[in-house]
Amino acid sequence: MKKITIAIDGYSSTGKSTVAKQLAKHLGYIYVDSGAMYRAVTYFAMQHGCIDHNQFDKAALLSILDDVAISFKFNPALGYAEVYLNGENVEKAIRTLAVSEFVSQIAAVPEIRAQLVKIQKEMGGNKGVVMDGRDIGTVVFPNAELKLFMTASPEIRAERRYNELLQRGEDVSFEAVLRNVKDRDFIDSNRKDSPLIKASDAIEIDNTDMDLKEQYDVILNLVNQVLNKA
Ligand code: CDP
Repeated sequence: MKKITIAIDGYSSTGKSTVAKQLAKHLGYIYVDSGAMYRAVTYFAMQHGCIDHNQFDKAALLSILDDVAISFKFNPALGYAEVYLNGENVEKAIRTLAVSEFVSQIAAVPEIRAQLVKIQKEMGGNKGVVMDGRDIGTVVFPNAELKLFMTASPEIRAERRYNELLQRGEDVSFEAVLRNVKDRDFIDSNRKDSPLIKASDAIEIDNTDMDLKEQYDVILNLVNQVLNKA
């Protein structure tokens, strides 16, 4: 069967990566979490003192950007690829609220986007890819055969992310997570370079009132419709 490209964009914590992983597994496609790449650069920037709550030294970060090597390695036990920064598995380190608090500033920098988008295009060059992010259907794969745009109310998204962080043992408050979800929505939607917008040919899925099974069934049905036509 012909392989297609599936682009999943949307607001923070809308369950994009959950459904992207499910689809990739079902179809035998590669799953690429583009947000993990922006998070890895953010983690690198934090480690090198380029960003904190008082400052963001963009020039300093750009001067050492060539030292950032991001790669993915499939973990058979998990069933998906984990992200590595300069050879170190940073899958856990990049998911903290601290990284989430800076990632949208980092992701607004055009030079950083250009570098990561280049890698993303290469990873999806042979189709058979499910990639999630903010600009996948608009910038990375404008010709993707299926584009989804995921939304849900900020409160439900914050609740999902809060529970995830608690499970990982992070000591965070719901209010801080909700604030972060709203802040990132605003910065991601209003940046000049590749803002988060729904591609004109994307299908919007509001999963505020859907559980994971319902969401997967709705999306798998859309995938099958496209595959039947491909
Ligand atoms: O927290 P969540 O899983 O929703 O976000 P993520 O997919 O891990 O992405 C983290 C951040 O990276 C976003 O808030 C964006 O600022 C940035 N991002 C982006 O600008 N473009 C992408 N294609 C993916 C992520």
